[in-house]
Amino acid sequence: MTTMRVVLFFILAYAYYAKADSKVVCYYDSRANHRNGQGKFDINFLEPALQFCSHLVYGYAGINPANNKIQPLDEKLDVNQNNYRQISDLKRRFPGLRVLLSVGGGRDTSGTEVKDRNMPYRTVIETVDSRLTFINSAKDLVKNYAFDGLDLAWEFPENKPKKIRSKISGWWHSVTTTVAGEYVLDDKTEAHKEQFTAFVREFRNSFRHDGLLLTLTVLPNVNSSVYYDPHQLAPHLDYVVLENFDVYTPERNPKEADYTAPLYELIDRKNYENGDFQVRYWLQNGMPNNKIIYGIPTFARTWKMTDDSGLTGVPPLPIDGPGEAGPYTGQPGLLSYNEVCTKIATPTEVKAGYLGKLRKVNDPTKRFEEYWNTDSDVTKRFGTYAFRLPKGDTPGLWVSFEDAETAGQKASYAMAKGLGGVAIVDVTLDDFRGLCTGDKYPILRSVRYRL
Ligand SMILES: *[C@@H]1O[C@H](CO)[C@@H](O)[C@H](O)[C@H]1NC(C)=O
Repeated sequence: MTTMRVVLFFILAYAYYAKADSKVVCYYDSRANHRNGQGKFDINFLEPALQFCSHLVYGYAGINPANNKIQPLDEKLDVNQNNYRQISDLKRRFPGLRVLLSVGGGRDTSGTEVKDRNMPYRTVIETVDSRLTFINSAKDLVKNYAFDGLDLAWEFPENKPKKIRSKISGWWHSVTTTVAGEYVLDDKTEAHKEQFTAFVREFRNSFRHDGLLLTLTVLPNVNSSVYYDPHQLAPHLDYVVLENFDVYTPERNPKEADYTAPLYELIDRKNYENGDFQVRYWLQNGMPNNKIIYGIPTFARTWKMTDDSGLTGVPPLPIDGPGEAGPYTGQPGLLSYNEVCTKIATPTEVKAGYLGKLRKVNDPTKRFEEYWNTDSDVTKRFGTYAFRLPKGDTPGLWVSFEDAETAGQKASYAMAKGLGGVAIVDVTLDDFRGLCTGDKYPILRSVRYRL
C-alpha cells in the first residue's frame, strides 16, 4: 500500500514537472464570442482547454491614437460584460495558469489611413513620453483586471509578398513568371528597431516591481531582422512567440496558393518561408532557446480552385482568390479546424467518389529527409492540404491546414530544439466542441502530449 503511494507520488510529481517545464501558450481571441451557431465561443468552452495550457492570452487590446494609451478593442464585451474579469478569474480554478492581456495581434485597425493601419504602433514608440504614457496605461489596465502581464503582439508593417507567380497556360504553351518585388512601408526601420528595444526595457523596469510578465508575439510576415534585436530584447522578455504561419494567405496571395505553415523549407520556395528559419534566426541572434515558443495555427487558409488550377492539387498552384466562407466563422478564405474536418471525405465517401467532399493529402513530398532524424515519419513536415476540384455548379476549394499530427510534429520539433514550448493560435478555432472525433481540442491535446 505504502509502496503504491510512493510510486503514485513519483508519477504525479513527474507529470507535474514535465508540465511545468514546457509552456503551452493558449491564445483566446474574444471575437469568437460574436460567431454564429456552433462557432460561438463562450467562456464555458475554455475550461476543458485550460488543463492543457500554462498561459492564456486574451486577444486583443489596441492603441488609442488620440492619446497613445492602451484601450479595449471591444469595450462592450471586454469591460461592460465583464469578460476581462471573468477570464482573468479563471486562475482561481486553474492554479498555475498565467493569464495575459495581448495588445495588437493584427486586430487593431485604429490607424487613420486604411493603407497604414499600424501607424499608432510606430508613433507610440518614437518618443520617451509616448512610450511612458502607453506603459503606464497598460500597467493600470493589467492590474485593474488582475492579469498576470502583457503580451506585445506588436503591429509592425508586413513585408510585401515577394513572389507573385502568374501561370498563363493555354493550349499552345505554359509560362511561369516570377516577379520579385519588395517595398518597405516604413522609412525609419533602424530607429524603430532601437526604439522598440528601449520600449521593452522601459516596460520591464515598470513591470518588475509588480512581478508582471512581459512577452512578445512576432506576427506573421513581419521581418524579424528589421524590427527585433533578439540579443537586446532577451533579458527583458519572459518569452517570445513566433507565429510561424500565414506564409501564404488568400489576402496576400490571391492568385497562388501554397502551404501556409510549413515547418521546413520546401524546394523552390524562399528560404525564409518556413518556421525552422524563423526559429534559427532568433536562436542565432541571441534569444535563449527556452524563451522561444513555436506558434501553431488551428485554422485553415482556403482558396478557390478553378479549371486552371490543374487536377493534382499539389502546391503551389494557380488559384482564384479566397475560398467560400465557413458556416461558423463566416469569413472567406478562413476555416476553423472543425469546419475543415467536417468537409473531409470519410472512407465511405472516398469510395463513392468523394461526393463533393475534400480529398485530404498529407504532404507527399519526401525531400530534405536529412533535416529530420528524430522521427521516422518524414511525410508531414510541410503541412496538410485538402482539395475539391470544381465540378458543375460546385466551385473548387483548396485548403492548407494544421491537423493533430502536423501540430504534434511541430511540438516534437520544439522539444528537439530545446525550445520553451508551443503556442496554440488560437483555441477558439480548434475543435472546441469535439465535432471531428468526439475529443475536444484535438490540436491542443496533440501538442500537449508531445511535450
Ligand atoms: C528582412 O530584412 C533584411 C534586412 O533588411 C533583408 O536582408 C531580408 O531579405 C529581409 N527578409 C525578408 C524575409 O524579407
